[in-house]
Amino acid sequence: MKDLKGKVAIVTGASRGIGRHIALQLAQRGADIAINYCSRQSDADNVIREIEATGVQALAFQADLSGMPEARDLIRKVQNQWGHIDILVNNAGITRDKSMRKLTDDDWNAVLDTNLGSVYATCSEVLNIMMEQKYGRIINITSFVGQAGNFGQANYAASKGGIIAFTKTLALEMAKYNITVNAIAPGFTETEMLAQVPENIREQIIARVPMGRFGKPEEIARAVVFLAAEGDYITGQQINVNGGVYM
Ligand SMILES: NC(=O)c1ccc[n+]([C@@H]2O[C@H](COP(=O)([O-])OP(=O)(O)OC[C@H]3O[C@@H](n4cnc5c(N)ncnc54)[C@H](OP(=O)(O)O)[C@@H]3O)[C@@H](O)[C@H]2O)c1
Repeated sequence: MKDLKGKVAIVTGASRGIGRHIALQLAQRGADIAINYCSRQSDADNVIREIEATGVQALAFQADLSGMPEARDLIRKVQNQWGHIDILVNNAGITRDKSMRKLTDDDWNAVLDTNLGSVYATCSEVLNIMMEQKYGRIINITSFVGQAGNFGQANYAASKGGIIAFTKTLALEMAKYNITVNAIAPGFTETEMLAQVPENIREQIIARVPMGRFGKPEEIARAVVFLAAEGDYITGQQINVNGGVYM
């Protein structure tokens, strides 16, 4: 089924992890893909090769999205390349986990700028394009941590909770332009982000998950593709793909 044929999708942080799988699955449905990465060019190049094998166009765009001017510039470059942007997936994100007693201003700012500032900046730049098209699908990757909180993640939780609130507001403002804005909230998912967590803590985490395992990045990607391809009347929602860790 190539129901996204002719559409252009940007996926931020698509060199690896969840973003890579989102890019691959959107490509399988026929969309041309702009892969954003920050530092891992060879990983991004590998994703490009995998996508090209499916017969659609894919290009890599380096941008450090922790800076708003660079985030806006990414949108402008993709628009210049294809002349339209139909789907924006804000996936790039980082953690800098510390308890509040140890958290520094730098830890706070790095996580808020990368995770939340980038979402604001890319959305604000893409809106004029999508409003003119009278079409847009924006999907922001949040986390169950933004809903529930998590020990040692005050900065991350604030950034992800902010994404949920931002998503709902933007959905309200953009509905009349046929632009839907939704959030996907993964639970603990097997990527390098989770690999940073020490083994003994990983065991404690699995014990908290009713389904008894971590999520797979492709399982998160399927929800994104559903919203992009079939979510015409879904807006302002958060879809939890979390194995039941937060209900
Ligand atoms: N894994 C989980 O358990 C989990 C759970 C809930 C939510 N999430 C969310 O899902 C999203 C993806 O997470 P993941 O687990 O796939 O992470 P990951 O494996 O660590 O990959 C992070 C991606 O973000 C990119 N990135 C990091 N900083 C960036 C910056 N300043 N500018 C542009 N790109 C940047 C990285 O690019 P480079 O490769 O170039 O560095 C990479 O492509 C994040 O928003 C995360 O918060 C993850």
